[in-house]
Amino acid sequence: MKEKKLQGQIAIVTGASSGIGAGVAKALAAAGATVVINHPVEATQAAAQAVLEQIKSAGDKGIIYQCDVSKEDEVKKMFADVIAQFGTVDILINNAGLQRDSPFQDMTLEQWNFVLGVNLTGQFLCAREAIREFLRRGLVPERSISAGKIICMSSVHEVIPWAGHANYAASKGGIMMMMKSIAQEFAPWKIRVNSIGPGAIKTPINHQAWDTPAAEKKLLELIPYGRVGVVEDIGAAAVWLASDDSEYVTGTTLFVDGGMTLYPGFSTNG
Ligand code: BGC
Repeated sequence: MKEKKLQGQIAIVTGASSGIGAGVAKALAAAGATVVINHPVEATQAAAQAVLEQIKSAGDKGIIYQCDVSKEDEVKKMFADVIAQFGTVDILINNAGLQRDSPFQDMTLEQWNFVLGVNLTGQFLCAREAIREFLRRGLVPERSISAGKIICMSSVHEVIPWAGHANYAASKGGIMMMMKSIAQEFAPWKIRVNSIGPGAIKTPINHQAWDTPAAEKKLLELIPYGRVGVVEDIGAAAVWLASDDSEYVTGTTLFVDGGMTLYPGFSTNG
């Protein structure tokens, strides 16, 4: 049997009932981790359950757990329950995120707060609980060379400005500096903190950008590699960043974007 890089480790994946989170949960489970498939509300339970069924039918392990990551009490309870059930947490995939797009002059405070609340405050709350657990448990070499791994789902929009999406871009820029600051703070404890910066990945969040041939053609102008990404591209990156293969990597964003951050407009201009 092929060696499973995350065998015996416990991973919480937030926002795992759909999109990139679901893809990452499946990839981590296939690599041997027991995966906590977090989803936010009762309405997302069936989708989370479907992800769990796929994981189980592949012979892998997981549970589903409902928790709104923007709520401090719910996040604390999720970590406490997971630690009570499994003993500890080794990997946090800080993935839950959403968009509420609007021209800036019309953006409501509610749209601003909702996006920042889930995308940035949610990542803060989950990272803080993970760090507390990593510090409590310390390094256990039989589990991993590192004392804990946090992977923040960022975006190419942590560096590429995005008109009409100021709340979303601000949340991703914030994630970048939060991630780097935590990485700096906890590297001496052998805790690793990194981000993945996906480009355009085929998921429900951006379906209007790829679900017609005309839209996809326009989107491909931004992607030098010539195809729209799929969740498996992100899953593979997450497994690597969570595994001991990336032991010396901390405080960095791994862009998985087919070259979107290479500013392809400059290949024929400038
Ligand atoms: C956004 C997608 C978008 C992609 C590239 C992602 O962070 O969520 O809607 O297609 O960035 O612009």
